[in-house]
Amino acid sequence: MNNANFKFHNDVEIPKIGFGTWQIPNDEAFDSVTMALKNGYTHIDTALAYQNEENVGKAIKAFDISREDVFITSKLPAQIKGFEETLKAFDETITNLDVDYLDLYLIHAPWPWDDMGKDCTEGNIQSWKAMEQLYNEGKIKAIGVSNFEIKDIQALLDNCDIVPMANQIPFYVGRDQEDLLAFCKEHNIVVEAYSPLATGELLNNDDIKTLADKYEVTPAQLLIRYCLERDTLPLPKSTHEERIIQNKEVDFEISEEDMKQLMQMEDVRK
Ligand code: A2P
Repeated sequence: MNNANFKFHNDVEIPKIGFGTWQIPNDEAFDSVTMALKNGYTHIDTALAYQNEENVGKAIKAFDISREDVFITSKLPAQIKGFEETLKAFDETITNLDVDYLDLYLIHAPWPWDDMGKDCTEGNIQSWKAMEQLYNEGKIKAIGVSNFEIKDIQALLDNCDIVPMANQIPFYVGRDQEDLLAFCKEHNIVVEAYSPLATGELLNNDDIKTLADKYEVTPAQLLIRYCLERDTLPLPKSTHEERIIQNKEVDFEISEEDMKQLMQMEDVRK
């Protein structure tokens, strides 16, 4: 396996750092994604709910890179549950992006955002079966979930055929979710870390700044490296080129002792 990639349980590889596009408006998405591609990102993460798929797709098309060399993730909106509904939403996504296939398609959340915690087990199972069908037809190279807890994943394991290949969760220093991490590891599910910088809230933390200085990196680089050290796949988001570049330059190692210290930190967003 290429050292710059993680490998899913179906042997499909995914670049270890992805460019997150959550909160990048459609009119800024073209420039941001172009900057990311220009600076060597080959993994772009979007979602129908982000309302920027159209310009994410246009940027990829306009850039001098072939489709097979870019890894594209999108997501089934959290409120859409059910077999036919999922097929329809998938069509909308590939039309928006103007692509023939997706590399990874995720159920965005186990429940609608305006009714977090609602039990949608049956709907998730039906959506998953639709995603299995799309996967078997070759329209998606890998399928997964997002914001799923252990019980949500377990319901798919108990009722469906394909074990999710990825679970994309909020993950950053102070929010490790050890049980979920261990469960995913046990089932060979790659954990993707969204908000690796705690949406920016960890960047001014004194402990993070001190450690970053020690490694002669920026707080963002330390936080992104932390995700990789924990075998999770960071999806940093930025609209500034110098940051986009910086967030990919994380070729250093955090010592075991410093990792221990980081793993003991409290969640700054609680
Ligand atoms: P901006 O888009 O203006 O660059 P997360 O990835 O955890 O969601 O965090 C994203 C936030 O962190 C955004 O506000 C983004 O701002 C900011 N950000 C991303 N990369 C960096 C960086 N290298 N240095 C400082 N701030 C950053």
